[in-house]
Amino acid sequence: MEKWSAATIRDFRQTLLDWYDREGRDLPWRHGRNPYHTWVSEVMLQQTQVNTVIPYYENFLATFPTVADLAAADEATLLKAWQGLGYYSRARNLQRAAQQLMTDYHGKWPETAAELEDLVGIGPYTASAIASIAFDQVIPAVDGNAFRVFARLLLIDADIAKPKTRQLFTQIIQPIVDPQRPGAFNQAIMDLGSSYMTAKNPDPEHSPVRAFDASYRTGRVLDFPVKTKAPRPKPMAYYGLIVHSPAGYLLAQRGANEMLTGYWSFPLVQQASLRQDEATQPATLQTDIAELERRWQRDYQIPVTLTTVGGQPVSQTYTHQRWHVKLLQADLPRAVALDFFPGKWVPGSEIAALPLPKVQEKMMARYAKQQDSTAFGKN
Ligand code: ADE
Repeated sequence: MEKWSAATIRDFRQTLLDWYDREGRDLPWRHGRNPYHTWVSEVMLQQTQVNTVIPYYENFLATFPTVADLAAADEATLLKAWQGLGYYSRARNLQRAAQQLMTDYHGKWPETAAELEDLVGIGPYTASAIASIAFDQVIPAVDGNAFRVFARLLLIDADIAKPKTRQLFTQIIQPIVDPQRPGAFNQAIMDLGSSYMTAKNPDPEHSPVRAFDASYRTGRVLDFPVKTKAPRPKPMAYYGLIVHSPAGYLLAQRGANEMLTGYWSFPLVQQASLRQDEATQPATLQTDIAELERRWQRDYQIPVTLTTVGGQPVSQTYTHQRWHVKLLQADLPRAVALDFFPGKWVPGSEIAALPLPKVQEKMMARYAKQQDSTAFGKN
C-alpha cells in the first residue's frame, strides 16, 4: 500500500477540487444545501445510476417537498413514487426515518454521522454523505466509488466484499478528506469513480489525478479494488396466475413478511410449494396445474381452470434471488367473492394506478403480447 506525505495530501486535495470545480457534474441535489435533499438523493443513488435517479428525485421532492410531507404520506403514494427504482424497503425506511425525525427530533436534523446513524435505514455511508455534504463534517463517505478510487490510488488490496473493510478504508481516507470542503471532496471522488476511474472502462491516462494513481503507475488498474464474488442469485420458479372475470383481474398485495411489501401483482405461487412429495410423484406442468386448481378451490373457493400463456417465462433478478415466472391464465364467467383471498378485482384500465413491482409490469407486457395488446386498457 502507498503512504502519502502531508505535502502529497495537500497537493491531491487541490488537484481534485480544482477539477471538481471545473468539471464536476451539475446534478439537481447539488444545488443548495438541504439535508433532506441530500438524504433522498443518497438513498436513491445507493443502488441506482445517476441518470435513472434524476427524474425520480425530482418527482419525489415535488410529491413530498419536506420531511413532514414524507412522514405523513400514504403508503400507496409512497410506493408509487418509488416504483421502478427497486430495493423497495428503501422507500419504507425513508418514511420511517422521516417519522422518527418528526417525533423524536421535532423535525430538527442531527448533524453528525454518528447521530444520523440512529435513523432507520441510514448506514455509515449515507450518514457520512449527509454529514459531510449538508453539515460540513470532515468525514469520508465510503461507497463503491470511494472503495474503487482509493483502492487504485493507494493500492489497497483489502477485500471490499468483507464488511470490516469499510472501517479500514474510512481510517485510511479520513486524513485525506479536505477539512474546508468535505462535501465537495466526497462528491468529487464520486465523480472520479464514474468518469476516469470506472470499474470496467477506466481512463487513468487522462485522469486529473493520474499523478497520484499508483495502480496506473504500476499497470494494475483493473486489479483494484479486490472483491470476492457474491454468490449467484438463487433460481426460484413461480407460476403467475392471470385470473380474469367481468370485474377485472385478480391482484394480490404483497405481505409484510415477504419481499416487495405493499406492492400489487398477479398472484404468484412458488412451484416448489406445490410439490411436497416429488419423490413419489414427479411433478409436471399438468400435475402442477391440477394441484393449483385443487388448492384454489379448497383455500379460496375460487374455481379456476388454468391454461398456459405462450412465450418464455418472465425473469426478474433481485440481490439474492432470480425469479422465473411461468404465466397461467383463467377466465371466470362471474366475479366470485374474495372472502378468503388476500386481494381484489381490478379493472384492466385501473391496474396501472396501483404501485406495481417490475415483475408485474413484465408479466403484464408478456400477457398483453400474447393476447391482443389492449388487454389492460379495459376490464
Ligand atoms: N453517487 C452517490 N452519491 C452521489 C452524489 N452525491 N453525486 C453523484 N453520484 C453519487
